[in-house]
Amino acid sequence: MEIKKAAVIGYPIKHSLSPIIHNSWIENENIKANYQKIEIKPQNLENFLLNFKEQKLAGVNITVPHKEEAYKILKNKIIMSDLANKIEAINTLYIKNGQIYGDSTDYYGFKRALLEEEPDLKIETKKILIIGAGGAAKAVIFGLLTDKAKQITVINRTEIKAKILKEKSNNQIVISGLEKIEEKITAADIIINTTSCGLNNLNNLKIDHQKIKGKKIFYDIVYKPLLTKFLCDAQENNHKIITGINMLIYQALPAFNYFFDIKPKITETQKKIFTEKALNN
Ligand code: ATR
Repeated sequence: MEIKKAAVIGYPIKHSLSPIIHNSWIENENIKANYQKIEIKPQNLENFLLNFKEQKLAGVNITVPHKEEAYKILKNKIIMSDLANKIEAINTLYIKNGQIYGDSTDYYGFKRALLEEEPDLKIETKKILIIGAGGAAKAVIFGLLTDKAKQITVINRTEIKAKILKEKSNNQIVISGLEKIEEKITAADIIINTTSCGLNNLNNLKIDHQKIKGKKIFYDIVYKPLLTKFLCDAQENNHKIITGINMLIYQALPAFNYFFDIKPKITETQKKIFTEKALNN
């Protein structure tokens, strides 16, 4: 039987965890397949994507810094999912029956990780505060809009970026700056940090927990460190917290299914292994 191949492309690509996740599932499911890392410099991205069928791959994951550019290059040339068209970015490209498809699975990962912690949560009843307006925020915002969240407020240091998202959403989101953040947190049920502030705990957001009323869910999509200052402070103040690690693991699941036609089982032991690898990477 032919070995099915898939890969992750990005630049740099050395630290990508996708091969660890996918190869572990390949082994567990006992299928003839492999998943590699391919470094693609920005100047070579177009050539790679436009000649994708020649790479003899079942599909690829697309990571930093190529998600938006890949969408731009391929938008009128392949079949994009509705969510990819809204987010204007793709993290997965795959071939089915000779046809190339593009999708963004980040929101799938985000939502599954949220619902795993809060199985009874109904997104359509929740007021959600999103901190940040970059690429990661966009995936979460347009996913939450599709799921008809009760209210979505986006706050960002650079307000113009939030304004652009507001326009793209047909004014379905409320926007503002980072000032009086505690009032905005008090008015929400779920607070999602999509900024890169948590990364290695540099440039942390300034949140005075004494000014926050009520118990909330704080969700940080950064997974390194697992407990960002944003989450540590929230935990100390008895809020529910969700780390970014399960989002990372679960976004790989639909991609694996696209590439190899199998929904892999994810065990707690695997999750522990992935988490350790992610933190030591
Ligand atoms: P990503 O694709 O990971 O979302 P990005 O597009 O560079 O990365 O977005 C990073 C987000 O983190 C932005 O919302 C950024 O705010 P600006 O739009 O004002 O740049 C936010 N961010 C990064 N460092 C920050 C800091 N020190 N304080 C507040 N926000 C910060």
